[in-house]
Amino acid sequence: MTNQVGLPLWLLAELTYRCPLQCPYCSNPLEFASIQTELTTEEWFKVFKDARQMGAVQLGFSGGEPLVRQDLPELIEYAHQLGFYTNLITSGLGFNEEKIAKFKQAGLDHIQVSFQASDPVINDMLAGSRNAFEKKKDIARLVKKYEYPMVLNFVIHRHNIDQIEDIIKLCIELEADTVELAICQFYGWAYLNRQGLLPTKAQLERAERITNEYREKLKAANNPCKLIFVVPDYYEERPKACMNGWGNIFLTITPDGTALPCHAARQLPMQFPNVKDMALPDIWYKSTGFNHFRGYDWMPEPCRTCPEKTKDFGGCRCQAFMLTGDASQPDPVCSKSDHHHMIVQAREESEKMLALEDLTFRNKKNSKRIFVSQS
Ligand code: FES
Repeated sequence: MTNQVGLPLWLLAELTYRCPLQCPYCSNPLEFASIQTELTTEEWFKVFKDARQMGAVQLGFSGGEPLVRQDLPELIEYAHQLGFYTNLITSGLGFNEEKIAKFKQAGLDHIQVSFQASDPVINDMLAGSRNAFEKKKDIARLVKKYEYPMVLNFVIHRHNIDQIEDIIKLCIELEADTVELAICQFYGWAYLNRQGLLPTKAQLERAERITNEYREKLKAANNPCKLIFVVPDYYEERPKACMNGWGNIFLTITPDGTALPCHAARQLPMQFPNVKDMALPDIWYKSTGFNHFRGYDWMPEPCRTCPEKTKDFGGCRCQAFMLTGDASQPDPVCSKSDHHHMIVQAREESEKMLALEDLTFRNKKNSKRIFVSQS
């Protein structure tokens, strides 16, 4: 088996589930408040060292909000010394010039700042904090000042998609190098709030048209800003190659040390090992959880004989589980799936508007309530 398995090139370190934001589209597990333990600095060092020895090259620091970890500069420095290309994925809340200078000195390579909306009121509401919008703009300017490539990430959903033009204008004003206009993917809290977040088809088409118009304008003005528009699975007829195949490239370590092939796999009815109990090479190459959906043998029909299986690897296992209750089913996004009608139905339901206030926000109180009702 070992020689057929790819290297864990991309390591995602979810340092903590603590976060000052309460985004209703967060991909963290619903029960995050019940997971209190976090790996220590030394335990993270060991994860980085082992992953690097196994061939990992990219390391993303995420969360929750990674900035709440006081040892972040040490973690960055250690990862940098090991030779990782390091990326900080942050909301920017809690960031300041002193921290960014420290991170630069520690060798951080890349920063991605997420915004919630171009409208300060909506942004602050989603962020659960006043002035979050202005603070984020300041951070974006600091990212530029410290000569980082500036990647701004906007999660787009039905409550901000109609402001796409303002969002793009804001990014241009902030001199972003790359803008990710990522339509919400439905995992964790986003799945819980799907009906209130999924844009309608008309909204999506308008947003894509405006993005294309701005691409042309930027090109004509010789502005290198790159706009990336990510269409949600729910408007596709074929599934995405989720994680580039299960256990192929991506290795996620959650705050408590659980190792996952993707950020959403914790919800699956399967055992995943913890770095405190098992060596990383054994986790990657030998554990049941990582081997379960590798390759093509696990596939049912129509995936098994589908000519596209080498391209999409059967789609997303977590999505199959969330929608059908069985992670080994074909991804319902695929129009060949017997469950594709569930995707079509979700599109239809998106026509019924839900107010922003009706969404379930990702916070400790809601997480505890959900955890109690599930257990
Ligand atoms: Fe888990 Fe797609 S998010 S396999």
